[in-house]
Amino acid sequence: MTQARAAIVTGGASGIGKACVEMLAARNWAVTIADLGADEGQALAEAIRRNGGAAQFVRTDVSDEGAVQAMVRASEEAHGPLWAAINSAGVVGASKPVHETTLEEWDRCSDINLRGMFLCIKYQLAAMWPHERGAIVAVSSAAAVKGLPNSADYCAAKAGVNGLVRGAALDCAERNIRINALMPGATATPLAARSTASNPNLGKTRVRPMNRMAAPEEIASAAVWLVSDESTFATGAAFAVDGGMTIA
Ligand SMILES: NC(=O)c1ccc[n+]([C@@H]2O[C@H](COP(=O)([O-])OP(=O)(O)OC[C@H]3O[C@@H](n4cnc5c(N)ncnc54)[C@H](O)[C@@H]3O)[C@@H](O)[C@H]2O)c1
Repeated sequence: MTQARAAIVTGGASGIGKACVEMLAARNWAVTIADLGADEGQALAEAIRRNGGAAQFVRTDVSDEGAVQAMVRASEEAHGPLWAAINSAGVVGASKPVHETTLEEWDRCSDINLRGMFLCIKYQLAAMWPHERGAIVAVSSAAAVKGLPNSADYCAAKAGVNGLVRGAALDCAERNIRINALMPGATATPLAARSTASNPNLGKTRVRPMNRMAAPEEIASAAVWLVSDESTFATGAAFAVDGGMTIA
């Protein structure tokens, strides 16, 4: 068996990130699960190890610079040079009209979804830089390019993620390191359940035109493709995997 390549998945304890972790582990990647959700993350890492795979959980708040640095270092120490990262950690916004959104709510949404993405890309890219290869996926959202009601904070943060990816991809293209944004549509995860509960106006627009949500695995397969050797000419792009939501 060939040496397992090292990957980091932020938000890997739940939803889309968890599906990415399981898919990478099944393809012989050595995975670092970086998440706030310690019980779920530990249990997932243990399940992968029981099946003969390589995985560790590192409790990480992606908006904390020191924690992100330590998490990348922990991946390198446990699994060797970093080959790939899928950054899926994220939260819904305040679910309020913009004029009712408080600065604290705005900052929380932006800190986790955008500042957290910047920190993860910054330290993952620095780890890949000397090896002159690697691939990073930033899990953005269809909300990056489509207006959604009561979601201006979330739309702004995710649009920021797409801009971050465009700029960062240029900075590392000549070093054979690729960075892409992935824009899921509505996906059946705990986050989607929370946003439906807090923002019922979202309901119908979110599932058009296929009239269903994605399963997390339908998003994970695109993310895993984007870090694989089957997508070696894809960089700086924003890939919609949204069941047609953004064109409906
Ligand atoms: N589910 C959807 O409909 C949908 C649609 C478009 C985009 N997305 C995006 O997909 C990504 C994954 O969402 P999901 O639906 O799988 O949600 P989820 O809630 O199932 O998983 C998100 C994970 O991120 C973790 N997380 C939250 N804040 C964190 C922090 N500060 N540091 C580290 N980890 C943190 C949570 O603990 C959780 O395990 C998010 O970026 C979300 O914005 C989701």
